[in-house]
Amino acid sequence: MSEVVRLRGVVKIYGSGALRVEALRGVDLTVARGEFLCIMGPSGSGKTTLLNIISTLDRPTRGDVKVCGVDVGGMGGEELARFRLRHIGVVFQFHNLLPELTALDNVALPLIIGGVGVREARRRAEELLRRMGVGGRLAHRPSEMSGGERQRVAVARALATEPELLVCDEPTGSLDYKSKLSVLELLREANREMGVTVIVATHDPLVSRFSTRVLQLVDGVIKG
Ligand SMILES: Nc1ncnc2c1ncn2[C@@H]1O[C@H](COP(=O)(O)OP(=O)(O)O)[C@@H](O)[C@H]1O
Ligand SMILES: [Mg+2]
Repeated sequence: MSEVVRLRGVVKIYGSGALRVEALRGVDLTVARGEFLCIMGPSGSGKTTLLNIISTLDRPTRGDVKVCGVDVGGMGGEELARFRLRHIGVVFQFHNLLPELTALDNVALPLIIGGVGVREARRRAEELLRRMGVGGRLAHRPSEMSGGERQRVAVARALATEPELLVCDEPTGSLDYKSKLSVLELLREANREMGVTVIVATHDPLVSRFSTRVLQLVDGVIKG
């Protein structure tokens, strides 16, 4: 199965009446295994809406969504949560790490939820954090790390369950230039060395230098 994502005629409408917003207006998108796809678009163009639908956190108003070969449209909430845990890693602009947990436990948590024993989960989390260059921050909580370090921990957490697909929404949006480069290098390494298909939405042109394909999203429509 070489198609990781297949969207057909995806429309997303928020609200109704005077508040109605057509955030996606008929998106067709196919992403092959092994791609590093960059979806560029200005603020309000529908990037987050599109990524939320690809990562199955949200459903389209109309249209078909297939992820990792599965038609997710017919799946219920709990089934979707299990599906995400097994197949999809997500990185947000603001790391979304749990503030009271250390870096190590933030990364170990999805493994523990997935049924891995605590010792083994921590062992794997440590290995991954070292690989992400934040092995010196294992016992730090998110508030005790820099923005760049937090985002590397967030990438490690998203990769912990060895997902087929990594979906990143503005992952460099709140970082300085050096931290941006280090996070983008991690994403490229995950793509090339771990074979993870990566989709990044951004308005940061720097990201496109790391990707294998760039698409423009304009007013809820993909332009080549
Ligand atoms: N939960 C929501 N309710 C109503 N409108 C929304 C909601 N989320 C996004 N929108 C609207 O949908 C459009 C696309 O938003 P979004 O997907 O967040 O774009 P981007 O991530 O490219 O900035 C915008 O006009 C935004 O205001
Ligand atoms: Mg957004």
